[in-house]
Amino acid sequence: MPRSARSARFTLHPDFSVGPVDPRLFGSFVEHLGRCVYTGIHEPGHPAADEDGLRTDVLELVRELGVTAVRYPGGNYVSGHRWEDGVGPVDERPRRLDLAWRSTETNRFGLSEFMAFLRKLGPQAQPMMALNLGTRGVAEAMELLEYANHPAGTELAERRIAHGDKDPFGIGLWCLGNEMDGTWQIGHKTAEEYGRLAGETARAMRLIDPGLELVVCGSSNRAMETFAAWEATVLAETYDAVDHISLHAYYEETDDDRDSFLASAVDMEAFIEAVVATCDHVGARLKTSKKITLSFDEWNVWYQRRPHPHPVEDWQEAPRLLEDVYTVTDAVVFGSLLIALLRHADRVKVACLAQLVNVIAPIMTEPGGPAWRQTTFFPFAQASRYGRGEVLDVRVDAPAYETRRFGEVPLLHATAVRGEDGAVTVFAVNRGRSEALPLDVTLHGLGLSRVVEHSALADADPEARNTLAEPERVTPHAVDGTTLRDGSLHAVLEPLSWNVIRLA
Ligand code: AHR
Repeated sequence: MPRSARSARFTLHPDFSVGPVDPRLFGSFVEHLGRCVYTGIHEPGHPAADEDGLRTDVLELVRELGVTAVRYPGGNYVSGHRWEDGVGPVDERPRRLDLAWRSTETNRFGLSEFMAFLRKLGPQAQPMMALNLGTRGVAEAMELLEYANHPAGTELAERRIAHGDKDPFGIGLWCLGNEMDGTWQIGHKTAEEYGRLAGETARAMRLIDPGLELVVCGSSNRAMETFAAWEATVLAETYDAVDHISLHAYYEETDDDRDSFLASAVDMEAFIEAVVATCDHVGARLKTSKKITLSFDEWNVWYQRRPHPHPVEDWQEAPRLLEDVYTVTDAVVFGSLLIALLRHADRVKVACLAQLVNVIAPIMTEPGGPAWRQTTFFPFAQASRYGRGEVLDVRVDAPAYETRRFGEVPLLHATAVRGEDGAVTVFAVNRGRSEALPLDVTLHGLGLSRVVEHSALADADPEARNTLAEPERVTPHAVDGTTLRDGSLHAVLEPLSWNVIRLA
């Protein structure tokens, strides 16, 4: 079909699919870091706080965001964490130094409060519990598992009951430590040391419950010198005992190179494919048909290189840390990262947006004040709402632009998800900064007849953001003129935009 040099296209057919979306692809992350927990989700005395001190305004926004698996309690924090500090009568809990973030941890929020938070979010929210394999090991992991999940009749289960939680928590998804390859991690280990410890811990936990889902630590990021070798060594020790391997990636604009920043998902997709190849290489060596799947349990835009706006002194309680304010440009990159995850739904089974509130987060709060949505809130909420079902294979034919980091990159990044009711949602990003991008999608055998909605996030000011002063400066808007005729969808994607096109 002839098309203009500046238009993009692809074809959808129900027989060509990537795989089903695991709802846990829309997970998030609550770490004891800065104001994620304290004055984020938990603020007794706040006008909107409920009887447990949970902020109901935040609960409402988290429900709207549509998060599923919630990873807890860290992050770097978990590698010095003592779970016993966060259970039992609140007034008897110890104050501790949090060495990861150089803060003071009051432990007024712990496991029981976290589980109450999830219950209030609703049944779609489920825990993803991270274990301390930095300063602790097999014994403490087993004790926490028994405390959390054993119904009754042992000292640990009875301790939980005495603490007020009669019903076991039933935590099914566990992370075997956090970023153990990183020299910054408390109790950092070599791949051999960590692989042995993770394997021993996993096998011991399975003696209590063989049905657990366990995530072993992959590299902290793709740039680590030991990347891929770490995964191969760790998996050789743990392949039989674990289900998923973790990936972490954060993106930011560097060297004034916006074009490369807009193509961050190229890196994310290459990262995923490299980890899949490494898992399958180890599987082949072990002559097993078992496939290890991926838990992309930390991902986001994070301005790690930007100077901190206000200096933070050591050992404060709930200091303002990592409170990035996201622009429209960031939201477009963020949407593209979501597209990358969906495009690999066959192997990525869990993904956690890091983090949930205040700390590099889609939701911001002011102590004693309001809560509001960052620009990144919208792509996540829309993908979680409309991105459930079967991911269809999308092979984009689009004009390209030149980037310093990735060479030629297509202007269009896209995926499509077919729901159980047959409705199809196209998620698409136009990476072009100045020109609109016409898009034609040929639809075969999908029985679609109308456009329900074309929603876009774009702005004349690519730096536009939502703030305490202007919390609703940026929101998605409806796009007119998108049509479905003669079996083809025709749309125009605004410059630098995230798009959700729903077809029924
Ligand atoms: O999400 C912030 C931090 O990034 C986490 O604590 C750590 O795991 C990662 O390096």
